[in-house]
Amino acid sequence: MLSFGDPSPYTERIRAAGTALIIQVTDLEEARRAVDLGADVIVAQGTESGGHGARRGRSTLPFVPVVVDLAGPVPVLAAGGIADGRGVAAALALGAAGALIGTRFQATTEALVDPSTSRAIVEGRGEDTERNRVLDIARSSRWPSKYTARTLGHRYLDQWRGREAELAADPEARQNYRRDVEQGNIPALPMWAGEAVDLITDLPSAADLVATLAAQAEDALDRAGGR
Ligand SMILES: Cc1cc2nc3c(=O)[nH]c(=O)nc-3n(C[C@H](O)[C@H](O)[C@H](O)COP(=O)(O)O)c2cc1C
Repeated sequence: MLSFGDPSPYTERIRAAGTALIIQVTDLEEARRAVDLGADVIVAQGTESGGHGARRGRSTLPFVPVVVDLAGPVPVLAAGGIADGRGVAAALALGAAGALIGTRFQATTEALVDPSTSRAIVEGRGEDTERNRVLDIARSSRWPSKYTARTLGHRYLDQWRGREAELAADPEARQNYRRDVEQGNIPALPMWAGEAVDLITDLPSAADLVATLAAQAEDALDRAGGR
């Protein structure tokens, strides 16, 4: 799955390996390019999503159906803000073939995250999440400015919000960040989480979660169909 940037240099190698080419897109230009490159699956990502995405991106609800129309026969997955079966049902109602879910799976027993991250996701609220570049700059991660990441709140975010250029030009601040990580004063990584954290209140196994999502989606679709 290729996201964030020009996928074209990699598509041939993926095809040659005989694997499906999945391209995640954040705007219509990227969606058109994904179609032109012959993607087998297109993921339409809205800005509600946890982790990286477009700074000037689109919201999932209006973005997914436009990508569905544009993609024609290519299956589209909706991504961003989906954490329960109602969200999966909404994705299907928008014409998507399914959903790509990220944040929700960080609160499952198999997730390779620090337990404090799973706990923070279970306890977090959508309002506590924020798209920002501050934490990428603070940890000297070279993400292009076009892409921000939605994270839970963080001390450095409060300290540097709106002063990104200043932070980028301040090696001492970035050194302090590294030291704070080493000393355990702040988490080793930003806690990437999307707006749907309110809907995440337990820590099931991933297999149980998938079964629950499917059952809830069926219920939601039945309800919407008046059955
Ligand atoms: C912890 C975390 C790590 C992620 N890492 C990547 C990544 O490496 N590449 C990528 O294309 N998307 C990544 N994403 C974004 C997902 O592909 C997806 O768009 C997003 O999780 C969907 O929104 P949701 O978090 O609201 O479910 C990540 C998301 C999270 C939460």
